Amino acid sequence: MKTTPLPQLGQRTLFPDLQSRVYLAHAAVSPVSTPVRAAVNAVLDDYARLGVGAFPPWIAQRLRLKEVIARLIHAEADDLALVQSTTAGLMALALCLDWKPGDRVVLTRGEFPANVTPWQQAAKQFGLEIVWLPQPQPEAIDVWLDALRIALRAGRVRVVAVSAVQFQTGLQMPLATIGALCQAHDAEFVVDAVQAFGAVPLNVREMGIDYVACGAHKWCNSLEGAGFLYVAPHRIAALQPRMAGWLSHEDGLLFLFRGAGLLLHDRPIRQRADFLEIGNLSTASFAAMGAAVDLLEALGIQAIFNHVQPILDALEAGLLARGFTSMRATDPALRSCTLSILPPQGVDVLSLYKLLTADGIATSVPDGYLRLAPHWPNTVDEAAVVLDAVDAALQNLAAA
Ligand SMILES: Cc1ncc(COP(=O)(O)O)c(C=O)c1O
Repeated sequence: MKTTPLPQLGQRTLFPDLQSRVYLAHAAVSPVSTPVRAAVNAVLDDYARLGVGAFPPWIAQRLRLKEVIARLIHAEADDLALVQSTTAGLMALALCLDWKPGDRVVLTRGEFPANVTPWQQAAKQFGLEIVWLPQPQPEAIDVWLDALRIALRAGRVRVVAVSAVQFQTGLQMPLATIGALCQAHDAEFVVDAVQAFGAVPLNVREMGIDYVACGAHKWCNSLEGAGFLYVAPHRIAALQPRMAGWLSHEDGLLFLFRGAGLLLHDRPIRQRADFLEIGNLSTASFAAMGAAVDLLEALGIQAIFNHVQPILDALEAGLLARGFTSMRATDPALRSCTLSILPPQGVDVLSLYKLLTADGIATSVPDGYLRLAPHWPNTVDEAAVVLDAVDAALQNLAAA
């Protein structure tokens, strides 16, 4: 019988078809592992064989998935809703908070738009005011924190929404400090965790986080179409079910399985985060996410973070020696698993990126930065391979 090998930090054996020589684009889209592929195939096989009979076991799988996610962020499974993406989670929140006209939403320049557009739309719908903070700089986080303090002291701040890790610089935001400030000023703290979950430890309790929205296709090592929204238990009662569907009701499924007389249109909407699971979700994507989080839990998020830092150290040192500028914070507490760099003057980042890609080094280039994002299957030895490829690319560009 074929058994699935246990995951090991620094081993690519679960990614046998990955073509890149070195894969450093986990902050963009992750390749999927053998167990994730097997889970999706199992869904398809079950639906092919059983049709509707496949539905109940895979619903049960989602409940298990929530338990694992909950353990990974130090929450309870009941405080999670499964949603299709980071954006879907943030949009649900922006729509369902019990806004009062004039409420303020604090946003940050340079944020990924997923954590901006829903708030801007809510501002138009509900008469809210957006307050902008400057883009946080890795070596000057106090400037951003001071701006946050000023905004909070000015009053009427209902929501502070930030990404746990800034997508273009890799700066890990000081979440516990922000959470404490929000609590002190009675503001609600929303975190977009898609650049963190899977590689950077998160603890919603210790960090004072009220809501987390996260998709699965980056550091979670899974597929698009799956994600979660965490709602702190004391925030549930105030959410308005402006986004609700047939699967938002208490016992809303019973009429399909338990005979006549149960099709009621006045069943209450659940006062639980999962009221936001409004209708059917992608079984395949959540099966994939289930297999992916099992791997992450087996490896341990802190262990993954610790494994990646020496890889980033080696890459950063080599690139600094070649005249690159690093955006990685010197304060270890503000680091993530992403290293963003700017090439030496005169080197076009897109041309460099294309040459690296052609040479089998997968990276990404958000907002003009070259972003190197290794994860648990990467190794320190790969840094030398990447640096050789960078040398070759720089020579190529210089000769052009
Ligand atoms: C910080 C951040 N938020 C959100 C997203 C994407 O959101 P979604 O999962 O809704 O596509 C990305 C990248 O794609 C991101 O870097």
